[in-house]
Amino acid sequence: MGAISGSTGSGQADPGKGGFPHYMLKEIHEQPRVIGDTLDTMIDPVTSRLTLPNMSELKRASRLALVACGTSYHAALAGKYLMEKLARLPVDVELASEFRFREPVLTPGQAALFISQSGETADTLAALRLCRESGLKLLSLVNATESTMAREADAVWPMVAGPEIGIASTKAFTAQLALLSGLALALAGHRGHLEEREEARLVRALRDVPAACAAVLAETGPIEALARDLVAPARNVLFLGRGPCFPIALEGALKLKETSYIHAEGFAAGEFRHGPIALVDENMPVIVLAPSDSLFPQMASNLAEVSARGGRVIFMGDAAGLARVSGLAGHIVLPDIDPFASPLLYSIPLQLLAYYASVARGTDVDQPRHLTKSVSDEQG
Ligand code: BG6
Repeated sequence: MGAISGSTGSGQADPGKGGFPHYMLKEIHEQPRVIGDTLDTMIDPVTSRLTLPNMSELKRASRLALVACGTSYHAALAGKYLMEKLARLPVDVELASEFRFREPVLTPGQAALFISQSGETADTLAALRLCRESGLKLLSLVNATESTMAREADAVWPMVAGPEIGIASTKAFTAQLALLSGLALALAGHRGHLEEREEARLVRALRDVPAACAAVLAETGPIEALARDLVAPARNVLFLGRGPCFPIALEGALKLKETSYIHAEGFAAGEFRHGPIALVDENMPVIVLAPSDSLFPQMASNLAEVSARGGRVIFMGDAAGLARVSGLAGHIVLPDIDPFASPLLYSIPLQLLAYYASVARGTDVDQPRHLTKSVSDEQG
């Protein structure tokens, strides 16, 4: 088991809880600033055009592998949806711990992007070294810019989340999502798949995110009550999402598992009826991520199927969406936002649900059992 350390795993100073009861809650509340700062690293303040460095490697790639572990893997999965849709670049998302032993078929025209908060995760580093042997361009997206991964990669996109102390990753996740959103836009422009006007519209959508997140963080009472009354007492909890919100459902489940020790699973909602729906009964909270996007009708019918079978559905979406569904055990109403930016916004209430459910269950929120900030040693 990797060493449990007081620092962020790469020696960054401990900033203190800033008056919050836990680092996790402090770091959740830092996200409007962190997302804003991340966008500032990619968007020209005068022209609002995207200005990302190191794009030449990505522009030339015939295929891209996104490689990561844990929460960073969920960011990679969301990145695939954005990059394939906007930039029309084929993207493979790889669990580093499987990828490194799978003898993957790699071709020099490919590029590989390694995503890591700590930059020290052993499986992701081993995957990076494997790709180097096959002559791939090595790109990395890391928070710890002094880390081994930043040193070994050919090009680095630094995250500006600052030190993350809570073992369950929160602000680093949304910083990763914001960077991947910017990368997808920049790449789409470079590959001739995005007109300037549409780029401007999507950049504005990203710029709306910090204020929308701040609005959610200003009103956490209803989320805390749902977490305490519906989630914390449960033995199992399910999360459903579609499209780019499917990886966010996976991340919501991971946050709850990591911090509250409740068994939780995320599913692609369309896949739910092919088996997992058998789990539904009157004791099962099912959190449904339903932004008002092109997939809402499908999501609403999944929601109806679950509540028809007695599931305790918690709807997460905007007011317009809430008005179109019924049979709920609870709801979390979020500000309207462009579907392109919904993965970022919808991450916040899921982090809060996990945090408040853990506090209600009295677990060690910042240092959950059996976990470390980065698994940096080889376990074979
Ligand atoms: C685990 C952490 O050890 O490593 C997770 O508990 C994290 O929170 C995962 O997502 C991957 O870490 P990193 O630093 O490579 O993003």
